[in-house]
Amino acid sequence: MSWGSIATWRMSYEGMVEAKKILSQGGNSGDAVEKLIKEVESYPYYKSVGFGGLPNENGVVQMDASFMDGNTLAQGAIAGIQDVKHAISVARSLSKRHYNSFLVGEGATQYAKLHGFETTNMLTDRAKKIWEKKKKQLQTKALNPYDGHDTVGAVCLDKCGSMAVGTSTSGLFMKKPGRVGDSPLSGSGFYVDSEIGGAAATGLGEDIMKGCLSYEIIRAMGNGKTPQEACDKAVYPFIKKLKQRYGKAGEFSLIAMNNKGEWGVATNVEFTFCVANEQDPQILIAYPGNEETTDIQPITKEWLDKYEKRIKKPID
Ligand code: GLY
Repeated sequence: MSWGSIATWRMSYEGMVEAKKILSQGGNSGDAVEKLIKEVESYPYYKSVGFGGLPNENGVVQMDASFMDGNTLAQGAIAGIQDVKHAISVARSLSKRHYNSFLVGEGATQYAKLHGFETTNMLTDRAKKIWEKKKKQLQTKALNPYDGHDTVGAVCLDKCGSMAVGTSTSGLFMKKPGRVGDSPLSGSGFYVDSEIGGAAATGLGEDIMKGCLSYEIIRAMGNGKTPQEACDKAVYPFIKKLKQRYGKAGEFSLIAMNNKGEWGVATNVEFTFCVANEQDPQILIAYPGNEETTDIQPITKEWLDKYEKRIKKPID
């Protein structure tokens, strides 16, 4: 049996290299998902996940995360957790509980502390500077305060045919304290069933929730669609519907993998993602294509160089 992994954004590449080590040696999909996401959570230059994530309007980093086991359908999730290094590990731990498996705010933070999860101040000096700058700009200019919501979402398939999915995010920059996005919400930000496949979302949670898009993709794959067909079918008609009935649609992107290791993505914005199945992880870039399809291309060195400069640019 083959293994596979797909994850959102270029930021998941280093984590996928680690996940590959686990999966190619016959390790477990849940371990691979957790490892991949922990790598992203640890890197201080990713400003929408974990350590270095941008704070809410009060200057506090509040994170959402989820974990799901595709064999048992067990799920764990947290929302608005603070001061905890690896939100994904807390979500995974909660997935082992039948009751109290989705905790929010103070309760989530207390659970993590009580169970010995690593705690730290998640607000880096860099993130604080970005927050201070935005606060000043908002005093003088009429700007949209909300920005930056690139969730890491990962789906892994192991050699035993077991699948798992996880998500982790600090959510919208300058969000209201207590705001929860799609990432910890089953069927919206994530879903996996080892008999079918898995999916995860990134983008504006408030709009992803309106379509329960991760579950819609699983449903389409369950009805015989390939992951790419399922992504296209779940995402593009929904964007059209949202524009017609709600008047607008935020930016979002979805990834999916089935239990054969085949994958797909759909997006209404430029979207990088990483994928590996029986080969080294690669970074690809997707755009909305013609007639409700997705245009996928290899990433260029020029794009990667610009990205590296952008994420490390000094804050003036
Ligand atoms: N997709 C992440 C969020 O909306 O918070």
